[in-house]
Order: sequence, then structure tokens, then C-alpha cells
Amino acid sequence: MSNIEKKIETQTNKISVNQDNKDKVFVETYGCQMNVYDTELVKRILTTANYEIVTQIESADVVMLNTCSVRDNANRKVYNRIHTIRQIKGKENTVKIGILGCMATNFRKNLLDDSKLKIDFIAGPDSYKQLPHLIAATGEQQEKPFDVTLSEFETYSDIYPMREKGVNAWIAVMRGCNNYCSFCVVPFTRGRERSRSPESVVEEVKQLVADGYKQVTLLGQNVNSYKSEENDFTELMRQVSDVEGMERIFFTSPHPKDFPTKLLTLMSERDNICNQVHMPLQAGNNRILDMMNRTYTKEEFLTLIEETRRIIPNVVITTDIIVGFPTETEEEFQDTMDVVKKAQFDSAFIFKYSERKAGKGAPSTLAAKRYPDDVCEEDKKDRVIRLNAIQSEITLQKNSAHIGETHTVLIEKKGSKKSNDAYVGRNQGNKLTIIADGDYQVGDIATVSITGATPHALMGKPKAV
Ligand code: 5AD
Ligand code: SF4
Repeated sequence: MSNIEKKIETQTNKISVNQDNKDKVFVETYGCQMNVYDTELVKRILTTANYEIVTQIESADVVMLNTCSVRDNANRKVYNRIHTIRQIKGKENTVKIGILGCMATNFRKNLLDDSKLKIDFIAGPDSYKQLPHLIAATGEQQEKPFDVTLSEFETYSDIYPMREKGVNAWIAVMRGCNNYCSFCVVPFTRGRERSRSPESVVEEVKQLVADGYKQVTLLGQNVNSYKSEENDFTELMRQVSDVEGMERIFFTSPHPKDFPTKLLTLMSERDNICNQVHMPLQAGNNRILDMMNRTYTKEEFLTLIEETRRIIPNVVITTDIIVGFPTETEEEFQDTMDVVKKAQFDSAFIFKYSERKAGKGAPSTLAAKRYPDDVCEEDKKDRVIRLNAIQSEITLQKNSAHIGETHTVLIEKKGSKKSNDAYVGRNQGNKLTIIADGDYQVGDIATVSITGATPHALMGKPKAV
């Protein structure tokens, strides 16, 4: 029996509250990749406790929403969804609804106090091992069961997630965040940074290879501030890269402050560490960056971009940007436009600032406490549109520059929107690549000539080898 099988057996012994009653559970995920991974953990925890995971909401006895609280529209989606679920389940409404994830921590009181929502139980990101007990306790007392305690230690390294089939596996190597960027609710909803041991990560990556996964993406709210007793993130990456048979390694989401030269050098030396980095800029004006508590200036950020391109010449760099942060003027927004032009990102996620006021009894973000949300909605929208227009042009230029090159593409599926004969995959830089035809299996790594580009994807054809 492998160590991982032993782990699963131990979990089964520990969590056995639902022995006689195989309740059916449906879990729906919102937000970031960490939530996708957490849902996989939750599914393992529940199946070892004898619950059955179902893929149709109609047949579920228990519905859980694994939620995101990073922007207001994510919250609103969940509120609307709860009402829809009640409708789907009809008049009798016997379904139990549970809220997991960041909204659970941030809006626990609001959610439980709202009598129209009829939430049955709540579990925060560090309380998923309690889920079998929370579900079992619903309906027992007047007070709804909840656990939103944030832990300084929980990493779930003893749980082997019930992963979706496919070519990529997520693995969280650290959780939580200590950075307190002033706009961000994550340090409040997910608590302090803590890392798994390198041994547990390496052991799991070996198991992933044995299970047929070709690619692993190391996850953390602040992945490159990973720190175990002996290892930093670079050393962890080295050990993961040494695992025989793991063909591709990505990581997300990093902070620009944690990119030592040795990490970039390692990336350039190792074939199985992919040439892609996410470098969240957030803003290109130094006054705003300071108010955001990002700990770098635009000059330092641009120097890091330069160094990254010097060490990894074909690197793909993506970013996140927030426009309309409190008091941001048009001139300061122009600074962000300017940095975007200089940095030449391959792509960018651009967001309107969303003030994160906490729910009843939960702490607000630093920006919500200190600064008025004073850039009007119209200006925020207009800034998103202008920044997206510039970035789309850059993305198209960047993608077009690949035409004529040879790329390796990990095949994810057969059939694209336009053709049943095409294959869809991602290249070494994580760019979506559509191959016109060929003869591949999912999981193959295809050698492809790039023949065309759009702002969203590369086009290619099989290269004769
Ligand atoms: N408003 C808008 N965008 C936000 N992000 C985080 N918090 C907020 C907020 N309050 C964005 C950041 C981060 C990404 C995951 O979400 O750009 O990098
Ligand atoms: Fe939020 Fe900043 Fe932490 Fe990222 S690094 S999770 S943006 S506080």
C-alpha cells in the first residue's frame, strides 16, 4: 500500500459520521484555482465519510457552493444562485445548502441571519475536515452549524484530492497570505501563510505521475513565498522538477517581491518548468502602488520584467491590474497605461476596483477602512475599456510573433468550436493553441508549427519530425 493509499485509509477511519446514510452531495465552485483545488479536497473528505458526489444538482440532498469574495460581483452571483437552487429543488425545499470558501469567512453572519436565504451550514477554507460533522448537525438545533476558524497550520497535506480527470493537476503548496495588499480581502478570509513540507509535495507529485497526469500547477495565494523548515520556493521547484515523468510544471499566483534571480535561472535551466510567469502589476503609478501596499515601485517592477526576459528569453508574462483604486486620477491611470506599453505583457486580467467592506462582525480591507471609493463607475469602466484596447493590440502582436516557430503543445481535447478534427492544447508558455488536424491522444505532447494567431489563441499544424 503506498503512503497516499494509507493516508486515504486513515482519513476513512477518522471521518465516519455518515455510515448508514449515503447522502448525495453536489459541489459548485466559484473564483480562483485554489477553490477548484479545495473542491477536490472537499470531495475526498466527503466520499471517505460515505457521502456520494453527484454531477446533477437535481438529484442532490446537499448542495455546497465554494465561494469567492474577492470582488463584489462574485458575491452577488452566489446570492442569486442560492435563490435559483431553491427554485430548482421545488416547493418542498428539503435540500440542505452549505456555503464554503471566502464568503463563508467574510459574510458568515450576514448569510446565516438572512432568513430568505435559508443557509443550513457554513465552513471556511480551513474547516473542510469538519464538513461531515457540520452536515450531520444541520437541523439538530436552532443554531445553524458553522466553522470559520482560521488555522495557522492546516495545509490538508494529509488529504489526496479527488481530482478531475485531465492532463493538469492542481496542488496547493502553501495557503493564506501575509501581505495585506490594501484592496484585498484574502488575508482576512484565508488567514496566515503556511506551507506544506517539501516531502509531502514531492510524494504527491510522484503519485500524480503514476496516475497519468502530465502537468502540475503549484498553487498558493502567494505561491513564491513558500517556506518550509529548510526550503524556499526555488528549492521546492527544483525538487518537483526532479520528479521523473512530470513533464510540465507551472505555478500561480506569485508576488513580484518573491522572484529571486536563482528562481528565474532555475526556470531557464529546466525543460519541465514552463516558461510562463504571472507578474501581478496592479497599478503603474507609485503613489497608488504605495497606497495598495504592494512594496515595489513601477521602476522596480519594470526592472524585474527586464531581468526575467534576459534570463528566460522566450518567457510568457501575464498580469493582473486594478483600475479606479481610490483617488486614482486620470494622470495616474495614464502611468498604468504607460507601464503596460513598456512591460509588453502577453496578456492581462483587468479589474475595476471593488471596495471590500466586510460583512457583520468581519474585518474590512485596509483600503475600505482608509480611503473613499471615489472613482465613479463610469470612469472605472472607461479605464478598463481603454486598458483592454491597448493590451489586446499587444497580445495580438505577441501572439503573431510566434508565427513560423515550432512549439510543443500538451493536448487537452479533440474538437474545437470550429472543427471536430482540430485539437486543443496549451504550449510551453500556457498559451491556448488550436491544431488544425493530426492524430493525437489527450495527454500527448505534439510538436507543432505555428501558422496563425488571434488575441486569444495560436493556430498550428502538426510538424513533420
Ligand atoms: N477589487 C478589484 N480587484 C481585486 N483583486 C483583488 N482584490 C480586488 C479588489 N478589491 C484582483 C487583483 C488580484 C486578482 C486575483 O484579483 O488584481 O491579483
Ligand atoms: Fe491579496 Fe496581495 Fe495576498 Fe495576493 S498578495 S492574496 S493580492 S493580499
